[in-house]
Amino acid sequence: MKDIIILGIETSCDETSAAVVVNGRRVLSNIIATQVNLHAEYGGVVPELASRKHVEAIIPVIDKACREAGVELKELDAVGVTYGPGLVGALLVGLSAAKAIAFALGKPLIGVNHIDGHICANYIAHEELEPPFICLVASGGHSHIVNVVDYKKTVVLGRTRDDAAGEAFDKIARVLGLGYPGGPKVEKKALEGNPEAFNFPRVKFKDSPYDFSFSGLKTAVINTVHQLEQKNEKIPVEDICASFQKAVVDVLVENTVEAAVNAKSQKVCIAGGVSANTFLRQSLEKACSEAGIELFYPPLGLCTDNAAMIASAAYFSYVEKDFAPECLNAIPGLDL
Ligand code: KG4
Ligand code: ZN
Repeated sequence: MKDIIILGIETSCDETSAAVVVNGRRVLSNIIATQVNLHAEYGGVVPELASRKHVEAIIPVIDKACREAGVELKELDAVGVTYGPGLVGALLVGLSAAKAIAFALGKPLIGVNHIDGHICANYIAHEELEPPFICLVASGGHSHIVNVVDYKKTVVLGRTRDDAAGEAFDKIARVLGLGYPGGPKVEKKALEGNPEAFNFPRVKFKDSPYDFSFSGLKTAVINTVHQLEQKNEKIPVEDICASFQKAVVDVLVENTVEAAVNAKSQKVCIAGGVSANTFLRQSLEKACSEAGIELFYPPLGLCTDNAAMIASAAYFSYVEKDFAPECLNAIPGLDL
């Protein structure tokens, strides 16, 4: 069968990314221009600034992705692009570029759900991986437990009712003055701290056992910090980070493994920025092996936002000829 070469484009948040991927699994290039330093100054992503930076970066990034892959535009079979969820202005930049290229080449345009893209990062990392499996998707915008029934069929088993896991990491980091993005910074401090120093809350819903809630945990951490400040006591940053991280990871691990056991699934995958967290990986590895479940995760570079995962997801739509109309619009609140 002929190789299918897809250009993927991702601009949903603060990374401008383009990638060329063959048959959904073989990455020829994956270029990521990050805006993280720009937004770090403001302690979080500023949507208007993100859109402007995407406009500046999009063409050079696409150009570089094709050059690095050794592929000319005319050799592409399709263009896949994230159309949601994400920041509307940011999404529109990638979408406009993708539409223009697809139209000019007369090739199909494929709309990709960003969350689905994160899941597909696992297909790139593990050539032999096939659905069905249970996937925990935890990033700055979403925390979902998904039953991946087939390449194109997903059923959401649980989701956060308030903050996403990564969002909680970012907020805690901000309160502790660690900077943005918070995940890697909290993780680093946690290495030096005692995870049992503070007993922060873990929420479990009786009616929907796979749902998450992190806003109470976030408030508990913020209150602890404020109380210590009022008493002029030194803030034990490392202990707070370690105890907070343990509270988040405990819940992510418990719900994911419970979902897999109840679904009689022998495979669990993790995806999204938070899946870069070593403590989460180690804890899940242990819980999965105790339950006789095999755990898969992408390498660090494919956990956070990138276009290779988008091109991979687009391939599975290509196979089913699930193409988007030229009028495809950005959907900021797109669900799985
Ligand atoms: O998937 P991603 O790049 O973007 C979204 O789709 O949101 O995820 C970014 C999120 C941020 O909240 C960041 O703090 C978190 O992932 N993150 C981490 C780690 N690396 C990134 N959280 C915990 N530990 C990490 N090592
Ligand atoms: Zn993401």
